[in-house]
Amino acid sequence: MTGKLRRIGTFEGRDVLETTLASDTGVRIAVINYGASIRDWRVPVDGRMRPVVLGFDRFEHYPTHDAYFGAVVGRVANRIGGARFTLNGQEYRLPANEGPNHLHGGPKGTGSVLWEMEDISAQAVRLRLVSPDGEMGYPGRLEISVTYRLTGNSLRMDFSAVTDAPTPVNIVQHNYFNLMGAGDIRGHTLQVAANAYTVLGEGSLPTGEIKPVAGTEFDFRAPRRLSDAAGAPLACDNNLVLDTNRDPDRPVATVMAADGSLTLSLKTDQPGLQVYTAGTMNIAVPGLEGRHYPPFGGLCLEDQNFPDAINHPHFPSPVITPERPYRHWCEIAIG
Ligand code: BGC
Repeated sequence: MTGKLRRIGTFEGRDVLETTLASDTGVRIAVINYGASIRDWRVPVDGRMRPVVLGFDRFEHYPTHDAYFGAVVGRVANRIGGARFTLNGQEYRLPANEGPNHLHGGPKGTGSVLWEMEDISAQAVRLRLVSPDGEMGYPGRLEISVTYRLTGNSLRMDFSAVTDAPTPVNIVQHNYFNLMGAGDIRGHTLQVAANAYTVLGEGSLPTGEIKPVAGTEFDFRAPRRLSDAAGAPLACDNNLVLDTNRDPDRPVATVMAADGSLTLSLKTDQPGLQVYTAGTMNIAVPGLEGRHYPPFGGLCLEDQNFPDAINHPHFPSPVITPERPYRHWCEIAIG
């Protein structure tokens, strides 16, 4: 069975298209070709379809904000310090779009452009993007693809990228989850299989130091409500270092709604997880069905390589080559 495409707007003279994946447990996920974004994700709760991500009903709101709602961000997600790096003896300069630093692949990163939608069925869709050599300052022509496949309550995401020259890649899905459907996420409980975190310095850039989470606000080894992050800032925007010797079949992160009505579990092959509680989020336009999204309105769980890894040789290398393409998978179940 082939999924249907719906036109939901235009962007730079091209059609913005949406397809909706549907599963036998009643889950529905709307995917658009702008940023390969998840625009809406609904789960049946007590006979009603509850949205569990933040999104907009109207496409025209997407290009006007910088929160990256539901987008696939790259080529290199998170920050690259000083918007520059050196690879094989050559320096590359990238556009700076957050002070002096480069964030989420720059102003025209993968989350802010139209992808091609292909292989569309009722349960799966594949999106493809070709980023030419030199785009946003990065070397190499990069062919990126993301496949979303919905089975029951679980969404499997497969990311791949093939290059014709060595280049850094870190592709991240930027959903904001809210298992209550609306309001503040600080009543949610979070657990993450991470013993350490990458320490941040000026401009939210890693200093290079990796420290144990024990005794810090980043200790989510046991389930903890986001509102009682002991004695520490409630706002979290940090990369946790996932346990490397973990069982890939076990979730690295689990989130529970304030009233226990829904649970999210996340599995991934990536070494890090950005936990971002969106404490300063400021969305002026209406969200899904007119919802208002306040600060702390959503929780991002971004499985990824470590931020600014290209400038920290002891972090896992983000460099791919023609012989060693990029692969990344993530599975999120909500029910
Ligand atoms: C980053 C935040 C940033 C947000 C929106 C997150 O992935 O960790 O620092 O503000 O994206 O751009």
